[in-house]
Amino acid sequence: MSDKAPRIAVTVADVVAVTPFIKRFRFEPLDPGPLPTFSGGAHVVVEMQDGDLVRRNAYSLMSPPSETSHYTISVRRDESGRGGSRFLHDHVRPGMTLHITHPVNLFPIDHRAKKHLLIAGGIGITPFLAMAEQLAHNHTPFDLHYAFRSRDHGAYADDLETRFGTRVHLYHGDRGEAPPLDRLLPQQPLGTHLYVCGPAAMIDWVLGSARAAGWPDHNLHHERFIAPAIGTPYEVTLARAAVTVRVGSHQSMLEAIEAAGVDAPSMCRGGACGQCETAVLSCDGTLLHADHFLTDAEKASNTRVMPCVSRFEGQRLVLDL
Ligand SMILES: Cc1cc2nc3c(=O)[nH]c(=O)nc-3n(C[C@H](O)[C@H](O)[C@H](O)COP(=O)(O)OP(=O)(O)OC[C@H]3O[C@@H](n4cnc5c(N)ncnc54)[C@H](O)[C@@H]3O)c2cc1C
Ligand code: FES
Repeated sequence: MSDKAPRIAVTVADVVAVTPFIKRFRFEPLDPGPLPTFSGGAHVVVEMQDGDLVRRNAYSLMSPPSETSHYTISVRRDESGRGGSRFLHDHVRPGMTLHITHPVNLFPIDHRAKKHLLIAGGIGITPFLAMAEQLAHNHTPFDLHYAFRSRDHGAYADDLETRFGTRVHLYHGDRGEAPPLDRLLPQQPLGTHLYVCGPAAMIDWVLGSARAAGWPDHNLHHERFIAPAIGTPYEVTLARAAVTVRVGSHQSMLEAIEAAGVDAPSMCRGGACGQCETAVLSCDGTLLHADHFLTDAEKASNTRVMPCVSRFEGQRLVLDL
């Protein structure tokens, strides 16, 4: 969300503790009229004014896509994160006004698929709540496999079983259960598409297993929620703005650029959409690429960078901004 990007003002209508770790937030439009429609898998970026700091985090929309009177998101409290989820849990109350972006979908349903195999781990269930609703509404075949650490972490497990019955399969980590990929993957009809969202290790396991079982890459879809690790502070020079900006260790390059009042494009803020791609004019050091957008060759060329997630170690970095 650049400072000039259109934002939607919403009222926090309801906050519900779904589990000891997860809160659900219901947003209603501040101005009369419907919210923009979206498709299952979409997310919004929520802007939070935390003292002098503006936090902007992406959250998947879990409400039915046809519902335009409100949006709902669910946020897992991340004690070791940079503070956005803690801010939402501790300070956001019903009646407050927040600003969010228009929904963006980087994890859409592929409508060419004959069947959809949805695999979720933990809080990675959120995009699938809206996707399952959309698939059920369109009478499209799907199965949802949902793994969580224990019942305390399994938000919406009961609700999903009630809504979608035998299409939902639950796995309790504390009982040693996990999706039986070796049996599941070969069983699917030709033309099935697979979608996975959850912890990084689970995404890698599912995608790796599917590729090893001969699934073509264009039938595999995933979304990662994790922000990259923090790093050491560094400076970046913005050639067109003629300023040099210091990026703190807990700050992304994009956040530092925005804090300096320079308008930079962005959308997902998670290294996936490509919107923030920026040309590197000079680089005396190492770019620490953390996105899922640039190819390995582009990363190695040191000529492009995604400031929403990537960092720099070295003497001098000059960007075309
Ligand atoms: C598309 C998408 C959908 C998501 N949906 C959900 C959801 O439904 N529910 C949920 O609980 N979580 C979701 N997340 C994760 C969520 O956005 C937060 O990461 C999470 O809530 C933890 O919050 P935090 O502020 O502690 O953040 P952290 O994840 O610790 O940090 C996020 C912040 O770190 C900054 N940052 C990024 N890269 C760097 C870097 N290299 N160095 C320093 N700072 C950096 C970003 O600007 C961002 O504001 C989603 C993430 C994405 C990308
Ligand atoms: S804003 Fe989407 S990749 Fe950076």
